Amino acid sequence: MSFLNVGGESWEDLALDEGLVHMGHNCNHLELDPAIHEAMIQAIESDAYRNYTPPYGFDELAALVAADVEVSGTEVMVTQGATEAIYQAMAAILGPGDQTIVSDPGWPHIPNFARTLGSEVISISVYSPNAGWKLVPEIVRDHVTPRTKLITVIDPLNPLGSCYDEEEIKALCEIAQLNDAWLLHDATYRDFAAGGNFPAPRYSERAVMNISLSKICGFAGLRVGASIAHPALMARIREHQVDRLGGNWVAQQGAIAAYQTKPNWKPRVLEMNRRNQEAIKACVDEIDSLDIISWPPAANFVAIDVTGTGHDSEAVVRAVLDEGFVIRSGNYTSEIYGPNFVRVTTTVPDEDVRRFCDALPRALKRLT
Ligand SMILES: Cc1ncc(COP(=O)(O)O)c(C=O)c1O
Repeated sequence: MSFLNVGGESWEDLALDEGLVHMGHNCNHLELDPAIHEAMIQAIESDAYRNYTPPYGFDELAALVAADVEVSGTEVMVTQGATEAIYQAMAAILGPGDQTIVSDPGWPHIPNFARTLGSEVISISVYSPNAGWKLVPEIVRDHVTPRTKLITVIDPLNPLGSCYDEEEIKALCEIAQLNDAWLLHDATYRDFAAGGNFPAPRYSERAVMNISLSKICGFAGLRVGASIAHPALMARIREHQVDRLGGNWVAQQGAIAAYQTKPNWKPRVLEMNRRNQEAIKACVDEIDSLDIISWPPAANFVAIDVTGTGHDSEAVVRAVLDEGFVIRSGNYTSEIYGPNFVRVTTTVPDEDVRRFCDALPRALKRLT
């Protein structure tokens, strides 16, 4: 599996290199609350983890997720990351011969999973300010066929940072509903949408949503997420559950503490994230060959178009890596548009952002 590699280097080597600053995988390196560590340490020291967890997650955690997303009439299933939630939901919905609509660029494992399940992938280009860098409902409608089974919406969108308003989510739900299709709302970055995030299951029983603790809660390596759907669809998703013996005990105890303390730390994380995004924008605005995409980003990253440099995104990423910073090229999110842009994670200490802003012009100069 090479999709986490950066600049031709193995992700494991990069992740273990303490000299590097990680601004590549949209992880959250900011301080949260000591109660999170304490809960996990307690779960280890008490040996509680020697038991299995409940198959669909601790009730307490599921209730905290439900209270956070606020969609009445739905059920929550805790998963080991959003990735698992997405695969299980897609496995419940898709079969050979179906079609799945995705955005291009988009998070690549959604189309990968669709193909694995025998579904044909229909990509709609969103790499344009005219489209608002996202799926326009009217254009989605034009791509629907009698074989369309699933419309997938990444909101906020990794890798561009765009997000959907309530009317757009309602319109996309309606398209799925009218065509006997389903909607997958991947809301992995939902906490970073300043104008709010509008869970699709709030508007349609034919929608499933997933959340993740990897981004806002800094749980990337702990692997906690959840699926949220109405009971009929959730019953089908449960048939496809992989972790029949439950997820990770320690991580779920940490997740409970993360939700319980979220009001204390989330505003600070969002504020630091926004300040870091502004600092990077100011630096990019000074460089003629670079352009910010989709401002302000509703995510914990900034996407930057690099076509003006005359180099592709991989070359830019490599040059920045040589300065000690891991950022990501768009290549893994789009064959067509990937060479045009890079993505820089902003949930890192502001000192790292300051150093990145010093290093970026140096890296570009070496490329010319
Ligand atoms: C859009 C999107 N969906 C899902 C995921 C997977 O998240 P998790 O770490 O919870 O599996 C990611 C991870 O980067 C993502 O960017």
